[in-house]
Amino acid sequence: MKCLTISLILVLSLFTQTSGFRCKMEPIVLVHGGAGDIPDSRVPLKIAGVKKAASLGYKILRNGGSVLDAVEEAVKSMEDDEAFNAGYGSVLNLDGEVEMDASIMIGANLNSGAVTVVKDIAHPITLARLVMEKTPHVLLAGVGANRFAKDQGVPTVPPGSLVSKYATEALEDFKEHGDNRTEIGDVGTVGAVAIDSKGRLAAATSTGGINGKMVGRSSDTSMIGSGTYADDDVGAVSTTGHGESIARYCLAHTIIYEIKNGSSANVATSKALKGMTAKLHNTAGAITISKSGGLGIDFTSRRMAWAYQIKDEIHFGIEHGQHTKEKAGN
Ligand code: GLY
Repeated sequence: MKCLTISLILVLSLFTQTSGFRCKMEPIVLVHGGAGDIPDSRVPLKIAGVKKAASLGYKILRNGGSVLDAVEEAVKSMEDDEAFNAGYGSVLNLDGEVEMDASIMIGANLNSGAVTVVKDIAHPITLARLVMEKTPHVLLAGVGANRFAKDQGVPTVPPGSLVSKYATEALEDFKEHGDNRTEIGDVGTVGAVAIDSKGRLAAATSTGGINGKMVGRSSDTSMIGSGTYADDDVGAVSTTGHGESIARYCLAHTIIYEIKNGSSANVATSKALKGMTAKLHNTAGAITISKSGGLGIDFTSRRMAWAYQIKDEIHFGIEHGQHTKEKAGN
């Protein structure tokens, strides 16, 4: 009898590993609104923005949309929100311009798309998705990315219209003091990861980069494996924080590697972040969903706004150790 039971377990486990069969998962959309030294005055705006983004993304999944649609929608909502360093409200380069990066990835087939140093587009994440879906390439940069946007009928916004008052002040502060003392001047990025009931995963990330950056600087957010990664056999990750460190550490893929080696999403996320900060002395944050629906949310910065919706509950936080729950709006 014991032998029969063991054989049955072995056959079942072999079947699930080789057939792509997955147990029914609980759909989740998890978002972050950037890791950094967020001042108290910005905390309520960030929390409201991440809750809204998580709920919009979740609504897409609940209404039968794909995980890709869900992460795109969640990120678009934060790109429209001045409280975040992405789309409108992005930080400025040394010439006082907004230059943005974004990337998106599907876990089912590792398809991915990204844009870097793109200007005057309200939703760089949508353009990154178009790169994935309509071109043979993974990453389009600068003038080429903007030309592609025009060819695809992606609307452009008037030059300067993505520049917010807060970003202008942050650049002035940077030029005067030579350091990035505000959260927006430090780092900040938005991102989303999602899993649906079939265990399909996607990830998306978008940023204005780093305040006072050189003209033409590309960030980790445009680099698959650093800012974004998704693989249905492992998990999905979106990162935020000091871009040059995240890129050197390949942070998103390091988290994936830790999960592959047996860590939970939670342990993998924390371990990779601590490893990066210990080695490179800069901070970051990440959100992760593993293929089994496990969550990882952590940051080595002072704060990181995050939120997710599962069923009718919104979970959110911004401080270390904070995990607040409330009933979702609808
Ligand atoms: N992680 C965003 C940036 O550095 O640009």
